[in-house]
Amino acid sequence: MTQRFVVWGSVVALLLCVESIGYAQATSDAREKDVVAAERVAEFIHTVLEADRTIYTTHAVERMTEHDVVSAEEEWEKETALPLPAQMLMLSSRLVKSKEIGLEYRLMSLWPIYEKNRPATWFERTGLEAVEGDPSKPFTGVIEKDGRRYFTAIYADRAVSSSCVTCHNAHPLSPKKNYKLHDVMGGVVISFPLSEGP
Ligand code: HEC
Repeated sequence: MTQRFVVWGSVVALLLCVESIGYAQATSDAREKDVVAAERVAEFIHTVLEADRTIYTTHAVERMTEHDVVSAEEEWEKETALPLPAQMLMLSSRLVKSKEIGLEYRLMSLWPIYEKNRPATWFERTGLEAVEGDPSKPFTGVIEKDGRRYFTAIYADRAVSSSCVTCHNAHPLSPKKNYKLHDVMGGVVISFPLSEGP
């Protein structure tokens, strides 16, 4: 009797074990799908951000400067001037953040004009180094914060026009003065939650 009990006990334990492996597998499959979907979402967001940034730099800032209409100045709020391309992205990211949908993005660099634009975490630093080495693909990962999983992608930010290079090389606070056209100047980090908050 005791023996039969032990045998049945083992069978039940084995089934529970198989069940939980299956559950873990299903959960990890679901997580994998989450990440694949998130990679596409980040790609879409980045494509729009990059297109807007390039168009703003070439068709607004450069064109208006060439025609002596108005220039882009860091102190644009105090002057009759356009915001710099980086400020344009910061302004839009501030507006997006205020919507409280969990989406955040910002510009950063290993050679920033301002310290606040330096990578803040190990992940950001590693990501910037990775996209500097290979700008063709983003550096991505899932980060846990306050019990919530965030998908984060870092894309290379390149000197798409000569004005990027001229201004950074000439800026008194820029630690790097030898940028060239198409160089990776930093990165755009995009982050959003993979699930609803607790
Ligand atoms: C007229 C000057 C000017 C131009 C043009 C310009 N930048 Fe900047 N950039 C700045 C300044 C100033 C900051 C810091 C803004 C801040 O944080 O308030 C900045 C910030 C950045 C940052 C964040 C890291 C840092 O240096 O603080 C990156 C990356 C960047 N710019 C890349 C670019 C690229 C790429 C272009 C061209 C598409 C560009 N910039 C055009 C002046 C310029």
